[in-house]
Amino acid sequence: MRRVFAGTAFALVGAHKFTLTEDSVPIMTTLPISPAAPDSASGSPDCALARSTAAAAAALGGVGIDAIAFAVPRSYLELTELAAARGVAPEKYTSGLGTLQMAIAGPEEDPVTLAAQAAHRVLRASGRSPAEIGLCIVGTETAVDHSKPIASYLHGLLGLPRSCRVFETKHACFGGTAGLLNAVDWIAAGSARGRAALIVCTDIARYTVGSAGEPTQGAGAVAMLVSARPRLVELEVGISGSYALDVHDFWRPLHRKDALVDGHFSVQCYLDALAGAYGQWRLLADEREPLARTCYHVPYGKLARKAHQLRCQLDGRDDSAAAGPGSFAVEVEPSLRLPAQVGNIYTGSLYLALLSLLYSEAAELENKRIGLFSYGSGCAAEFFAGRVRPGAAALIDAMDVAAPLRDRHRLTIPEYEQLRQNDLHADQRPAEAIHAAAVGQGPLTLDLESQRQARFCGIDPKERRIYSVQ
Ligand code: CAA
Repeated sequence: MRRVFAGTAFALVGAHKFTLTEDSVPIMTTLPISPAAPDSASGSPDCALARSTAAAAAALGGVGIDAIAFAVPRSYLELTELAAARGVAPEKYTSGLGTLQMAIAGPEEDPVTLAAQAAHRVLRASGRSPAEIGLCIVGTETAVDHSKPIASYLHGLLGLPRSCRVFETKHACFGGTAGLLNAVDWIAAGSARGRAALIVCTDIARYTVGSAGEPTQGAGAVAMLVSARPRLVELEVGISGSYALDVHDFWRPLHRKDALVDGHFSVQCYLDALAGAYGQWRLLADEREPLARTCYHVPYGKLARKAHQLRCQLDGRDDSAAAGPGSFAVEVEPSLRLPAQVGNIYTGSLYLALLSLLYSEAAELENKRIGLFSYGSGCAAEFFAGRVRPGAAALIDAMDVAAPLRDRHRLTIPEYEQLRQNDLHADQRPAEAIHAAAVGQGPLTLDLESQRQARFCGIDPKERRIYSVQ
């Protein structure tokens, strides 16, 4: 079944011409990845190791994503209204960037509450209990504390076992992928001992109000259960193309809430990284079966289109098919439907794209191979692949995937600007007395059977963050 989304007509126009600047790395010359490139790595020790990791994973019945769910704040902004307020043609945002709506966090929502909501949903969807989780990694680039990780708050809110390994990963938007690949290795190495890993990507993407980055904000979390014998997507373990380079394309100094970005350079860095990671992946991967679909990191939909076009060029495929209604519409567009209604969620963007793809057409994709491209500014990138498992569609259909997008509050521009203004002091807001009283009384545990949600109350006199569940 191919699911059609109401109100998300997605028309991207124009085609990106891939050029190399003096500042960017000449990937095309250092990593020749023509279709005829010899599989020079296949006999190397690297490849032998990849094969042995893959064999270990196969002996476990495969390793990959067993369940996935997302959460967004309760409010959103229409990009056409933002365009009107900023004196910009609405098509620049809806078509030129490919985003229709941006999720905006309110004062009681932060990366912890979004992570808790997504994790709660994924546990419910999977039918697993918190006791089955042996590893919990939270990927974020909008951490709430320089020391205490979001994973620790999550540990308390979900009631995860004390024997669980818990930590946070940061590398811009790549942090969630770092967690996912770590979890896959943890399972393939035998450390899981039958347990599952909970990987949560959570972020609030903020740029300065009125800046070029403003229409590429968003907020949300994606939670994934990673396990042996996964029911949704079995990953090709050990076969992954990595790329890294020290660049200043996007950064957020410790004292800032808003990110700083060299926007057009960041796009170039993303595309260079795709060329590098994809080239590495092709040296390792079995190319006999083409990728039926590819999900890309989606800061905004148009960039996924540019990425797809670049991959077509690298594959020696017809460019015009990528620019027209051909391969892009089939291979990428379904993955952009949920992101177009949420905006950039940094670490979770790629996985929201994956969920969008599964939600759109899991039945058609069962047994098919899909590619995944993760990019984190700074920069690090990874290209890897997996196979949609038979039975995935039934699981997705049972989930009510899009529920978080229903009944959201549509913000006016003054409401949005007031929220952004309040953001500046949110981390110093004193918690109400009733919640401050809960400190020291043990964890507030989200009840898996209920619909209750975590909320951020503020800080106590010792500057500890206080959460309640209601
Ligand atoms: N109708 C249709 N399309 C229009 C239009 C109109 N009226 N007016 C403009 N456009 C098109 C432009 O042609 C352009 O398309 P192309 O890229 O295909 O040429 C597109 O709309 C955007 O226009 P501009 O390039 O003029 O936009 P801008 O300069 O104002 O800003 C941006 C664009 C640089 C992406 C900016 O939004 C930004 O800095 N965003 C944050 C950084 C970011 O997201 N970078 C992505 C890579 S980094 C990464 O991936 C990590 C991460 O998550 C941050």
